[in-house]
Amino acid sequence: ACNTLGFAATARTFSEPRSVAEARRQILDSRAADERLVVIGGGSNLVLLPWLDAHVMRPAFEAMTITPAADGRTATVSVEAGKRWHALVMELATAGWWGYENLALIPGCCGAAPIQNIGAYGVELADHLLRLEVMSLEDGSTRWLSREECAFGYRDSLFKGSLEHRVLITRLEFVVTREATPQLAYGDLAQRVNAATPQGQAITPLSVANAVIATRSEKLPDPAVLGNAGSFFKNPQLAADEARELLAHHPTLPHYPQADGSVKLAAGWLIDQCGLKGARRGHVGVHDRQALVLVHFGGGQVSELLALAQEVRESVHARFGVWLEQEPRVLGEMAATPS
Ligand code: EPU
Repeated sequence: ACNTLGFAATARTFSEPRSVAEARRQILDSRAADERLVVIGGGSNLVLLPWLDAHVMRPAFEAMTITPAADGRTATVSVEAGKRWHALVMELATAGWWGYENLALIPGCCGAAPIQNIGAYGVELADHLLRLEVMSLEDGSTRWLSREECAFGYRDSLFKGSLEHRVLITRLEFVVTREATPQLAYGDLAQRVNAATPQGQAITPLSVANAVIATRSEKLPDPAVLGNAGSFFKNPQLAADEARELLAHHPTLPHYPQADGSVKLAAGWLIDQCGLKGARRGHVGVHDRQALVLVHFGGGQVSELLALAQEVRESVHARFGVWLEQEPRVLGEMAATPS
């Protein structure tokens, strides 16, 4: 139940601390017992293998405060790790604050959002983040990291690098604004928002959030209905000359030039072109409306999913010479029984 792909998995022990202080006590207890400690969030970007020889902790503290600046035009939001990301986005959008409305309907918790630097429809977490607080899994001490220190990149951060499995992200701080700052450049977002906004009325953060919800609902499976972990692969980034050569052979390949000269390719398109969209292998498959998403129809084994992921990677490599990189984090081991 701790992962949206819906594969059965067992951990040695499990806890849901209700406060930062309780999380610290549990970290220190774990240390004293010399057991491995693993932190998870909503489990929506996770491939859980059957057995996890560790104490698994899922933060359940979720306080939020909005502190407006003196002129009332901006505000600093502080939110604890356990708060659901989508609930946060909707509360802010409903209250008329601009910032993260393009990130509506992303599953998971606030504390997990920085790990992969969640992003969609032209906005990413790093855009408005000021700083975040982490607690060491070694000694329970806390410190603040600035946005710069977090080394955010496309689906990347320090928490996938040198701090991987070493800290619990306890809270985030970011800025929102009253200034209308709609980001509508992606796909048909502008059209959707305009169509939903009566003539002469201003666009609101809520109208943008609703357009994003409608777009996502058309393509992405609801994890509560069909097991999945969102995009299973990253969009590959190629050096300019490699990209030029590939695009010469495949001129319709959707691609996005990056600031550093590299070019990002639509992995969903590559998989789709291999004829794999909607492919089913036993209890798992490639989603029929977005080929970048692998799905679990229920009753299957995680090994089926890993085999399908490998088949997808090999097909794309054989056809386009590009190796796709897996996005969700893998935790645990295949041996199903505790020693
Ligand atoms: N495409 C196909 N066939 C497919 C899927 C996509 O041809 O089966 C084409 C589309 O037509 C489009 C292009 O590929 O031209 C890009 O597709 P889309 O707009 O759906 O976005 P994406 O690049 O596949 C990324 C993120 C999503 C995010 C969307 C919107 C990654 C790995 N994925 O998907 O994030 O919602 O952009 O910004 O960067 C996630 O990370 O879990 C996730 C869902």
